[in-house]
Amino acid sequence: MLQALAAIGWAAATDSFGSTSDARAQRLYIPGNAGYLGRLAPRGTALTLTAGASAAHGQGALRVAARHGGRQYSNPTLVLQQGERARITLVNALDEPTIVHWHGLAVDTRNDGNGSILVAPGERFDYDFPVRNRGGMYWYHPHPHGRTAAQTYGGLFGVLMVEDDDERALRSALDLAVGITEIPLVLQDRRPGTAYAPSAADMIHGFLGEEMRVNGTRQPYVDVATRLYRFRILNACNARTLSLAFRTTSGASFPFTLIGNDGGLLASPVPCTQAFLATAERIDVLLDLRDAVIGDTLRLETLAFDPMHAEGVTATAATAPATASTAAPATTGTAVDHAAMGHAMPAATATTAPHNDAASWPEGAPRALLDLRVRSRVAYRRQVPQSLSTVSTTDPTNASERAFRLGFAKGRWRINDRVFEMGVTPIEVARGAAETWLIRNYHSSMPHAMHLHGFQFTVLARETSPEAIAALAVDAQGRLATDLGRKDTVLVWPGESVRIGIDFRHPYPDAQTYMFHCHNLEHEDGGMMLGVSVG
Ligand code: C2O
Ligand code: CU
Ligand code: CU
Repeated sequence: MLQALAAIGWAAATDSFGSTSDARAQRLYIPGNAGYLGRLAPRGTALTLTAGASAAHGQGALRVAARHGGRQYSNPTLVLQQGERARITLVNALDEPTIVHWHGLAVDTRNDGNGSILVAPGERFDYDFPVRNRGGMYWYHPHPHGRTAAQTYGGLFGVLMVEDDDERALRSALDLAVGITEIPLVLQDRRPGTAYAPSAADMIHGFLGEEMRVNGTRQPYVDVATRLYRFRILNACNARTLSLAFRTTSGASFPFTLIGNDGGLLASPVPCTQAFLATAERIDVLLDLRDAVIGDTLRLETLAFDPMHAEGVTATAATAPATASTAAPATTGTAVDHAAMGHAMPAATATTAPHNDAASWPEGAPRALLDLRVRSRVAYRRQVPQSLSTVSTTDPTNASERAFRLGFAKGRWRINDRVFEMGVTPIEVARGAAETWLIRNYHSSMPHAMHLHGFQFTVLARETSPEAIAALAVDAQGRLATDLGRKDTVLVWPGESVRIGIDFRHPYPDAQTYMFHCHNLEHEDGGMMLGVSVG
């Protein structure tokens, strides 16, 4: 297996993990039809993915190998058509258990890969499911509880693109060519030369890398022409939140158009200048370079922002968000220690530098991520369609509400005072129910990227948002542009309450179980996750 992985032949552009700092920019690696992140469309045929170690990529590096149509891939971008049957065998060539989760896909428990079924070293597991999702950018990553962060950071993840009619219509309306003018950007921060070894502080704040890789490339640039480009962006960092924006080299903001996110295309395009992208979230953006001048460089950056990790707050400062303080706690069914909730992080982590392992790039510090060098002039006259897709929403009128509180107690991040227990489902939902979930984060907390398996949801409102977030609202419900459309992961800032609407309809004969968790992978592995049973 190791030989097969080594034989895949990494493009030089995908850059080894052990390289040291080098000021020279490298050409962005853009996935093709083979190799690293290469697009692989099984079109109903059976496919085998092999998870294994890849010594060529440094200590602890892991890869997903595949062979299809005479081509070899690693971490293939799976291209699936809506309605197609996916038949995928996972072979575990690691020396520890694993399982692959299809993040964002509406599948049954058996195919969800949520960690309730594990594949032992040397064993295999067969997935078989119909693709029920809308067109959009989804992804896959390992989900063995307690080892999700290590295996994902190691590199066992890839993109999963679902295509449908709206997707095809958009491409033809805008004359987009995949790999040329439609470019995926897979962002992962790394600590070069080291295997995953989180400190105690990392386990509380999340594991932050010191430098960003874009499709595996450090400090990348890409040459572009004077036309419209589409970027489909995945935040595959374990824990880092990004505040994405395009700027000219003189620092002026350069607007873009948001056309999609986690669950596919928005109903209509939304002009933007900035978008927060938390771990596991995706955005789909158009950049109009028609008026750019040859020789210009535009830069995709993450802007400076207050990470709101609330270090140093005292336990007494911890309170529930004001509007939510009278709401009943969720029916978790067990007696819990409410008084212990909302405590500040332990003094040891609050007073020592919390990010000392990634001191060169603390959370919220700005960074250039990708240079777009305008190099050629072309004629381009297409207009962005004002209607992109039909987006269903959850009608909250008759929905029952469930409340969740995110807080830190007794050394761990918790949901409703609880930590995860395999096989236990504190959240019991009736089949077909429409529910609203009010996710409340304490003031003395940090942002949490809350993710639900199995169902896309609608973000209905943000309440008591921190000022910096409220300032970005695009509607009276306090929502951000990135909250529109369908979502599977939503970032909840300290002191904030986010209300989401979910339709728990599913076509499976029996009750199914899923996970609801923070996608900061250190928080997830630490137990910030609850089982969900849907009747
Ligand atoms: Cu992307 Cu349960 O995860
Ligand atoms: Cu998921
Ligand atoms: Cu979290």
